[in-house]
Amino acid sequence: MLNEGEFHCSVFDDGVEVWITQLGELMNMNTAFIDRTNKIVAIIDPFDADSWISRLDKDGLVPTHLLYTHTHRDHVAGYPEMIQRFPNLEVWGHEHAKVPDLIDHFVFSKVEFTDTWDCDAGETVQWECGLIKLGITHSPGHAPGHVTIHGHGVYHAGDLLFVRSAGRVDLPGGDPQAQQMSLIRAKEILSSLPEEWRLIPGHKYDTVGDRIPDWISIGEVLTYNYFLANITIR
Ligand SMILES: [Fe+2]
Repeated sequence: MLNEGEFHCSVFDDGVEVWITQLGELMNMNTAFIDRTNKIVAIIDPFDADSWISRLDKDGLVPTHLLYTHTHRDHVAGYPEMIQRFPNLEVWGHEHAKVPDLIDHFVFSKVEFTDTWDCDAGETVQWECGLIKLGITHSPGHAPGHVTIHGHGVYHAGDLLFVRSAGRVDLPGGDPQAQQMSLIRAKEILSSLPEEWRLIPGHKYDTVGDRIPDWISIGEVLTYNYFLANITIR
């Protein structure tokens, strides 16, 4: 199990590295995809700039892309310092995650996206940079413009899914009906991926037996997640 600020680094079959860490009181899970050949480091929802930058620096790497699942403040906590230290970062999120009507609410924090995805709810688009190839799925319900990100052996669920549960829908911008559609779409995608791939939740909240796992295999999440287990795919 990861301790706070500890990094797990692995290399997928195609040479793309996947780094995962857990940071902060809410046990936010961050994932990064690294293509050393092309010096690309794409980090999902970096919680703490210092932790990421100092760990990457040990390997002679710097962040090049930030990919946001949504703009709740705990997910974008690392943004101000990241952009201050690396002003040329590409910053990606869904168009709807800009939330101009909600941004003053304390649950959200502002991110200046340099680029946005603008796909429909349930739609998956490809994001490619160097060797990194990711499926980005618009999955609203927990928050406007929420996306999940999958590729290179992982499905980063953001706050759509945790190991056994799903994201809350009672915050401003939450939408229970949209969430249910996003969960159905997630089950379709997860069912199409190799069962040994890992689901990385947005937070390390849930117990499985006597442990709180950092991640769970896709085969396991389809069995043990209360929400997914109750969805029938036609
Ligand atoms: Fe959230």
